[in-house]
Amino acid sequence: MKIGRMEFTMLVSGLILMASHTGALGADQREVTQGGFAWQDGAEVYTKVCALCHDTKVGPILRGRDLDPLYIKLIVRNGSRAMPAFRAAEIDDQLLEKLAEYVSKTGSDK
Ligand code: HEC
Repeated sequence: MKIGRMEFTMLVSGLILMASHTGALGADQREVTQGGFAWQDGAEVYTKVCALCHDTKVGPILRGRDLDPLYIKLIVRNGSRAMPAFRAAEIDDQLLEKLAEYVSKTGSDK
């Protein structure tokens, strides 16, 4: 079955939503001492959320482009066409700060 970009976006959003509710994303290696699920750092969020689209050619490559952290934060909060928006309940401000810094300052794999 071939799925279009919109369907894929909805699918992935659904998966992320499910995973964030059940704590299924990486629950294996997490200490549950802070009263539930918590991301470790920006790199982890990138790898487990953003990379699903941004390292698979669904969305543009982000790392290694020296993108402005402010721009990254704006897109993540507001979305952009096929890019879903993430609310503070999903990625809080502090974590978004680290994520934007990570994406901005990290080189691409290639
Ligand atoms: C469901 C797939 C998907 C996920 C998950 C996703 N993105 Fe995107 N993102 C996209 C697509 C598609 C675009 C291109 C949007 C457009 O049509 O302009 C995009 C665009 C962007 C842009 C603008 C890039 C540019 O070249 O101007 C940034 C920044 C961005 N995403 C950051 C992120 C970050 C950070 C995350 C992780 C929290 C993330 N995205 C998660 C699909 C996704």
